[in-house]
Amino acid sequence: MGVTAALHCAEAGREVVLLEADRVVEGVTGKTTAKVTAQHGLIYADLLENHGRDAAQKYAEANSAAIEEVARRVEERDIDCDFQRLPAYTYAADADQRRAVEREASVAEGLGLPASYVEDPPFPGGSPGAVKFDEQAQFHPRKYLLDLVEAIPDEEAESDVFEQTKVTGIEDASGGSGGTAGSRDESLCRVETERGTVTAENVLVATHFPIEDPSFYFARQFPKRSYVLAVRLAEEPPEGMFYRDAEPYFSVRPHPTDDGTLTLVGGQNHKTGQGGSTEARYRRLVEQARDHFDVESVEYRWSTQDFVSADDVPFVGKLGPKTESVYVGTGFGGWGMTNGTAAGRMLAEFAQGKSPRWADAFDPQRIDPGAAGTDLVTENVNVGKEFTKDWAKTLLGGVDPDVAPGEGEVIRRDGKPLAVSRDDEGDIHVTSAVCTHMGCLVHWNDGEQSWDCPCHGSRFSIDGEVLDGPAVEDLPGRR
Ligand SMILES: Cc1cc2nc3c(=O)[nH]c(=O)nc-3n(C[C@H](O)[C@H](O)[C@H](O)COP(=O)(O)OP(=O)(O)OC[C@H]3O[C@@H](n4cnc5c(N)ncnc54)[C@H](O)[C@@H]3O)c2cc1C
Ligand code: FES
Repeated sequence: MGVTAALHCAEAGREVVLLEADRVVEGVTGKTTAKVTAQHGLIYADLLENHGRDAAQKYAEANSAAIEEVARRVEERDIDCDFQRLPAYTYAADADQRRAVEREASVAEGLGLPASYVEDPPFPGGSPGAVKFDEQAQFHPRKYLLDLVEAIPDEEAESDVFEQTKVTGIEDASGGSGGTAGSRDESLCRVETERGTVTAENVLVATHFPIEDPSFYFARQFPKRSYVLAVRLAEEPPEGMFYRDAEPYFSVRPHPTDDGTLTLVGGQNHKTGQGGSTEARYRRLVEQARDHFDVESVEYRWSTQDFVSADDVPFVGKLGPKTESVYVGTGFGGWGMTNGTAAGRMLAEFAQGKSPRWADAFDPQRIDPGAAGTDLVTENVNVGKEFTKDWAKTLLGGVDPDVAPGEGEVIRRDGKPLAVSRDDEGDIHVTSAVCTHMGCLVHWNDGEQSWDCPCHGSRFSIDGEVLDGPAVEDLPGRR
């Protein structure tokens, strides 16, 4: 989202500084399955019911416009990013879901989307039916965004991109709650980085989970981790992009390469830190792929996570209720190629003092964490349970485990919970097991060799370095 937002600002003649902690497009966007579609499972019937026609219409328009923005940029800049128009299908998981799929097709069509109900989708065989969206798309997100990044630096406008520049704090222009208040030129925001301070009229926070959290985003969205395989089939992949809206979801799309077409298979989602063995998740995904296809080989595998808001609509707008000049986009719900593109455009419009036409549907303040709906209450009860269960278990346990290579365990030493793991070379790594966000205990992720927090989804490397927020501070090392 950040690259799109920065480019919109640059195109509007603003002086832009894009700050990236690591390398650009190596975050979640570099690991997505990159369907560029306004079809987000069976969302429109829910939006109509829970948010009303106006919000559902705005969601549909924002995401449809995002597809066309990507298509326009690909054409205008002649970007070689495997952009391809394809239909998207959400198929019924079973006969019981058929009515929901039919309803989705009817609601989506009523909102002006290119939707229809099809009895016999190309995948999977024997499906009870699917909702089809015509003229959707897929692309290679890194190839696309790395091209857009090139368009941001501009000597005359003094715009530039700074990689390896981690932001450590944001102070709002008014001294309001974009971050911490302070005494200084109050007409500008201050962005503290590890390499110095940037002052700006506006700050657009595009860090996936916002690195400043005056609105309790941690309690208003939850982290959904899922898995992707790139498999080579002994048959032609089905024509189109496919999705089963269930727990877990299942996703299929073709992926052209110089060495023939691979098929991306995704799913096995769970709340971060609560899914058990991630190796087992990969195994189950391979089994699912083999159930549907004649799989010759699994060429690549990876996993990543996205935040799902309590009411399924992203948060795009002012960072906090008292924030003046700091804006955020987060909670894309697993559909950030279009939601993130739309959010990038909206944030750039906010920064120019405009009111984006879809803004009220995405207003971050629409959910009050104190008076939340059922989903949100359930999420936070779940967090409380994880917190209590893990602390109780660890205080009862306590001896040094004989950790095998590739494994990790939380133990108690001198009353303190420690995260102990052994890498593939046999070296032991020890850090605190207490998540620096709000004190839950981390869980070992055997697939990615990381420590994942079951409460709000922070992830840490084997040595405790933050991989994913909301945590911003590393786990302290302990020996
Ligand atoms: C398995 C999986 C498959 C998916 N498939 C699809 C799909 O097919 N279609 C779709 O539409 N969506 C899909 N999504 C969702 C989509 O990938 C995400 O919504 C989107 O990539 C999120 O983009 P982002 O810009 O918010 O985050 P990111 O791409 O993670 O960008 C955030 C950037 O901020 C940087 N950053 C973080 N902290 C700091 C800091 N302190 N200072 C400076 N920089 C910082 C990070 O390094 C990173 O580069 C999928 C998600 C998953 C998990
Ligand atoms: S992510 Fe919130 S306590 Fe760990």
